[in-house]
Amino acid sequence: MVKIKNTKILINGKKRLSGHVRIAGAKNAALPELAAIILSNGEFHFRDVPEVEDIRVMFQALKNLGAEGEFHSNTVKITLPEIKSPVVPKEIVETSRASILILGPLLARNGYAKVSKPGGCAIGERKINFHIQGLQKMGAEIHEDDQHIIATAHKPLHAIDYTFPNKTVTGTENLLMAAVLTEGTTILRNCALEPEVGDLIQLLLSMGADIKGKDTDTITITGKTSLNGTVHRVIPDRIEMGTYVIAGCFQDNEIVVENAVPEYVHSLLKILEEIGVYVETGKDTIKLKTNGVFKPIDVETSPYPGFPTDLQAQLTTLLTQADGISRIKENIFNNRFQHTHELNTMGANIEVEGDISIIKGKTPLIGKTIRGTDLRASAALVLGGLIAEGQTIMENAYQLFRGYENMPRKLVQLGADVKQIEE
Ligand code: EPZ
Repeated sequence: MVKIKNTKILINGKKRLSGHVRIAGAKNAALPELAAIILSNGEFHFRDVPEVEDIRVMFQALKNLGAEGEFHSNTVKITLPEIKSPVVPKEIVETSRASILILGPLLARNGYAKVSKPGGCAIGERKINFHIQGLQKMGAEIHEDDQHIIATAHKPLHAIDYTFPNKTVTGTENLLMAAVLTEGTTILRNCALEPEVGDLIQLLLSMGADIKGKDTDTITITGKTSLNGTVHRVIPDRIEMGTYVIAGCFQDNEIVVENAVPEYVHSLLKILEEIGVYVETGKDTIKLKTNGVFKPIDVETSPYPGFPTDLQAQLTTLLTQADGISRIKENIFNNRFQHTHELNTMGANIEVEGDISIIKGKTPLIGKTIRGTDLRASAALVLGGLIAEGQTIMENAYQLFRGYENMPRKLVQLGADVKQIEE
């Protein structure tokens, strides 16, 4: 694994950005899709896999299970002929909580899975009680000590009709992957509708799974006794897409986002048009033009197709440049406003009241030394550095590399003055 723990990003702001930026494959699609290879002993070939830390961690977790393969140049070739060790150790889960996605498929294939407990994280409590509840209803015995979750299927799992109490992306994905090898017909209701869930279903169908209800909130799975390897291209990353779309709104930037799926960021594009941004979409491109004057707006995050929590921090940075008071209500996570403290250090005027951040614009930003607390907050601070007067130094920048492929290089290609330094 690349040692990127002590990385800093240096940005000299106020450079005009223009040109084309290509969006990488979706981290949050590739993560469950790599976990899905556990469901088969076949050969898999994934294309458009983003070269980011979270994926490297998942790839390592699969090797620990006994998988053989290689990951380079946005391609993963991998197979898991047999399970050598049904354990996901602490150092893997601590680096990427998404390794909880191994639990469902490993239990379905192997009848036993031992996964270290995913810790909390900077954006708030990250519960997995619905994952556990669903697997227990399928017949798994789940034992938790302070370090691990140990799931055992003393008898083969059985089909269930289960309604998620709340929408959960990885909860939907975990139970979906457990069900495709479970005899009978499982119905999962109130499922997450994120495009990444749809892409996982696309992969499972190409492996030979029997699934109805793709892109709806009710998914019906008829279990199979075995599934095949396959070739799969990962869909574009809508959060990276939204991040560069927002970067295109600042100053007199003129950015064309390529390998885009405008529909995936429809909720963001509507907000941008409402605040005065000219948005032009093509089949797989999004182009932005602004005069740098923005109206304030009230927004709230919600599950797809609503405005995504993963773009909340990045939109906050843009709204510091709006003329007036904007409010963003965060409905998904209970502590996702850490970026506001760092932005205030740079000159923003943001107050947080409960689950609402109140952004008083327009405030010029000044380059400062700041700290990336989590993946999307780090992206918001990079956007702040791009428009700030002077130099911004972002410490703890490894967070950025968990989910954004080559962000410094992509920004330099657009005309930004960004340097990555290793301590
Ligand atoms: C996925 O996380 C994404 N990660 C997150 O992206 C994203 O922010 C989140 O969905 C919401 O869209 C991946 O797909 C790998 P949830 P996930 O389960 O599945 C509560 C990024 O930046 N909940 O949909 O962990 C939970 O506490 C990351 O790329 C329960 O109460 O999110 C949260 O408040 C950050 N019990 C809410 O639901 C459960 O069993 C949504 O969580 C599960 C979730």
